[in-house]
Amino acid sequence: MHAAFFALFITISTAQPAPSYAREVLPILQQKCLACHSRAAKMGDLVMDSYGSLMKGGAHGPAIVPGKGSESRIVLMLEGKLQPRMPFNSTPLSDTEIEMIRRWIDAGAKGPASGEELPPAPNMTIPDIRPQVPVVSPVGSIKFSPDDKLLAVGRHQEVQLTDAGTRKVVATLPGHGDLVRSLAFSPDGKWLAAAGGRPLVAGEVKLWDVQTHQLLRTLRGHTDCIYSIAFSPDGKLLATGSYDKLAKLWDVQSGKESKNLKDHIDAVFAVAFSLDGKWLATGSQDRTVKIWDVSSGERLYTLSEPEEGIVAIAFSPDGKQIAAGGYDKLIHVWNLDPKGVTLAASLIADEDSILQLVWSPDGKEIVTSSADGSIRVRDAATLNAISVLSDQSDWVAALSISADGKRLAAGRYDGTVSVYDMADYRQLLARSALGAPYQRPGLAGLRFVKSCGPEKTGPCYVGLSRAKAVPLPGEVRP
Ligand code: HEC
Repeated sequence: MHAAFFALFITISTAQPAPSYAREVLPILQQKCLACHSRAAKMGDLVMDSYGSLMKGGAHGPAIVPGKGSESRIVLMLEGKLQPRMPFNSTPLSDTEIEMIRRWIDAGAKGPASGEELPPAPNMTIPDIRPQVPVVSPVGSIKFSPDDKLLAVGRHQEVQLTDAGTRKVVATLPGHGDLVRSLAFSPDGKWLAAAGGRPLVAGEVKLWDVQTHQLLRTLRGHTDCIYSIAFSPDGKLLATGSYDKLAKLWDVQSGKESKNLKDHIDAVFAVAFSLDGKWLATGSQDRTVKIWDVSSGERLYTLSEPEEGIVAIAFSPDGKQIAAGGYDKLIHVWNLDPKGVTLAASLIADEDSILQLVWSPDGKEIVTSSADGSIRVRDAATLNAISVLSDQSDWVAALSISADGKRLAAGRYDGTVSVYDMADYRQLLARSALGAPYQRPGLAGLRFVKSCGPEKTGPCYVGLSRAKAVPLPGEVRP
């Protein structure tokens, strides 16, 4: 009798139908895992958007061994028997949920039946990054207006328009998705383009009316944040460079994308128009500067001398040269000639990665900022430093020279702004930090991956995953 009862029990328990991928397993993955294991985030190289990609596995190979639930990496990581426990830094799944996944694998980890309806993919959101310590918002970008009356300061989620003389905030332009990484005034000074966007989510340009402080339009199209933006000299086009490896040209009037410049194999950190507006130069993490024909969108030249990623480029004011700087600490200057582009000079310029580079309006000086914590004003002909402003309180991620060439503005990662007199390099007005309190992203809830270049001297990246890192100068120190 007893034995019969026992046998019956066994029969019932093993007869329990195998969990369904579509109805039982996928909803758990969508809800608890997809934030970090979508095609966009791809943490651990594991993508769970589809059954096929899930079965393919991640950085360590297959995460699922059909028929062997308890030996499958996915179950071991859900149980915490393999570290880091999944879901990463979040509440572990319930025993029932883990058991569901284990039993599904034990039963062969079968995919959806052909034609079986799958639950719709949830709206992807990057996990909310919890703030830990309130600090002043970093300065991601800074720009004098063409008439030198305003100084625009790009910060976390907002642009401050300040009076360039008194540095009082005239207006705050809100609603940006993340750090405003690049600013450009239209040549007539009427419009301000502010670019940024959310890493891994979307790039975004907001076009503001400088007089009325009204938002005119928002340009969308890039799939990752925008690092650089420029107006064409006639004010009709905007160029953007993004972490998504693309540069784009936009028609300012319509707000429509007019050209997609696709040839860089890594993030595009810098864009600049030539003086006549015929060429666009782009600088990339792929160690090249490329020159494009603006009207056709064709790539004309690839300048591949740099040894590391390029983060800043500038045309000389006479339009005859282009300078670039980046993670190899070198400044390269090329001569531009309708017949070709030749290297004019290169110099190991700074002790650490170059962060910014601007050319003075009279063409005589090139100013660079570096991760060694300095600003250097250089003779543009020899590239040698004329003056070193070494007392920087943090990395200078943003530089701008006024149109009259008299003032240099510097914005730092600690949120402070300084304006220097270009005649004697003295600070005009005390250093100020006018930013609204900003919550520096904390480490809770999400792992930021940090990696630094060779011998810890190269670029430092901090990002949401190993597969896709987003460089944020200053967020992580070598
Ligand atoms: C907050 C982000 C996050 C969430 C949510 C998350 N993961 Fe992960 N996952 C990671 C990271 C980061 C790694 C890489 C870990 C490493 O290699 O050190 C990873 C790696 C993995 C791996 C190993 C891939 C390999 O081959 O190396 C598996 C399996 C995995 N996760 C399963 C899951 C499952 C199942 C869930 C949902 C229940 C989940 N993860 C939710 C961030 C996350």
